[in-house]
Amino acid sequence: MRKWSKKSKLAKIVVSLGLVLLLIAIGLIAYENSALRKLERVGYNREEVETILEMVEKSDIELLLAHKYDERVDELVKDGNFQNGKLSEYLDGLDKYAISAEGLIQLVNHPDYDPAEDYSELERAILKEKYYLSRNYERYLAAARSVNEEVEAAEIVAQVNSNRDREYYTEPEAADIDAGDLLLVNKYYYLGPDYDVDIVAMDATYGQIGVEMERETYEYFQKMAEAALLDGVQLYVTSGYRDYTDQEEVFASYLAEGGEAHALVYAAKPGYSEHQTGRALDIFTPGMTLTSFAGTKGANWLANEAYKYGFVLRYPEDKVEITGYEYEPWHYRYVGKDAAKTIYNEGLSLEEYYAYYIARG
Ligand code: DAL
Ligand code: ZN
Repeated sequence: MRKWSKKSKLAKIVVSLGLVLLLIAIGLIAYENSALRKLERVGYNREEVETILEMVEKSDIELLLAHKYDERVDELVKDGNFQNGKLSEYLDGLDKYAISAEGLIQLVNHPDYDPAEDYSELERAILKEKYYLSRNYERYLAAARSVNEEVEAAEIVAQVNSNRDREYYTEPEAADIDAGDLLLVNKYYYLGPDYDVDIVAMDATYGQIGVEMERETYEYFQKMAEAALLDGVQLYVTSGYRDYTDQEEVFASYLAEGGEAHALVYAAKPGYSEHQTGRALDIFTPGMTLTSFAGTKGANWLANEAYKYGFVLRYPEDKVEITGYEYEPWHYRYVGKDAAKTIYNEGLSLEEYYAYYIARG
C-alpha cells in the first residue's frame, strides 16, 4: 500500500509539473502570437506598440503588420485627425510620399484625394490652397502637369479659378446677369447687345459731359467723390456706361491706334466690356491721361480708399495674367461695399473673388 501511495504521489507531481509546463508553453505561444509581439517584431518599440493598440481598431492591426516599419506611424495614429477607416490609404501614402504624418493626413483626408494618383509636390500644395475649389480639381491637375517652369500652387489655383487654363474669347459663356453688382463680364463672360440696366446721367461737375452709369453706382460714386474732395482730390470721370455699339467704337479706335495685340490688352471686344454693366468707371483727376495718371495723388487715393465706397481697381498691375488687361489705374468697378472690402483685403481680382465667393458650386 505504502509503495503504491509513493508512486501515486510522484505521478501526481509529474503530471502537475507537466501541466504547468504546458500552460507556460501555451502562454508563451500566445504571447508570441499576440498583436503586441507581432508589432514589436515589425520594428515598433513598446511605447509605439501601446499607442497603436490604443488608437488602431483591432481589425486593422493586420494592415500594420503587413506593412514595413515606419517611424511616422506613431505620429500618424496620435494625430487628432487620424481616421481608422483610412489606415490602408495612409499606409500607401507613407510609401508614396516623403512627407510628415500630419501632411499625409491632410492629403488623404482631403475630400478629393484619389488613392490611385501619385501627386507631385505642386499638386499636393494645390490641394491645400485657400482658394482651392473641388469643382476645378481635374483642371488644377491638368494645369500643374502642363507647366514646365516653377509655378506656385496659389498661382495655378488663381489662374484656373479665373478660367485662364482656357484661351480668351474661345468658349464664351453668357454672363450671369442675376449677379447684380457682382456681375462678371470679361473675356470669358459676355453680355448680349440688349443687356438692360437702370442708367442715370452723371452731373458734369464730376467729369465729362454725357457720362452715364448705373443708378446705385452713381449714388456711391458721389459719396466717394465728396470724400475725395475733403482729401484734396477731385475725381474726374471720363467714361461710364457704354452700350454695345459704343464699345465697338472703343475697340475699333484701339485697333486703329496700335493693331490687334494692342487693342486686346486695353479694350474689350463689344459685348465683353464691363462698361456695358453700367458699373465700371474710368476715373482720373482733371488734366490726367491714360499715361500720366499712375502713381499720382489721385490714383493713390483711389487705390487706397475706393473700396470703402464699394469700388475696386479692376485691372491691377499684379493681375494682368488673370484679367487679360494691362494695368488700368483709372478703371474702377462698383461691386458693393462687402465685396469690395474682401477683394481689397484679400488682394483678389474680381475673377478670383467671383469664382470663390459667388460661383461656388
Ligand atoms: N478698357 C476696358 C478693359 C474695357 O474696354 O472694357
Ligand atoms: Zn474702363
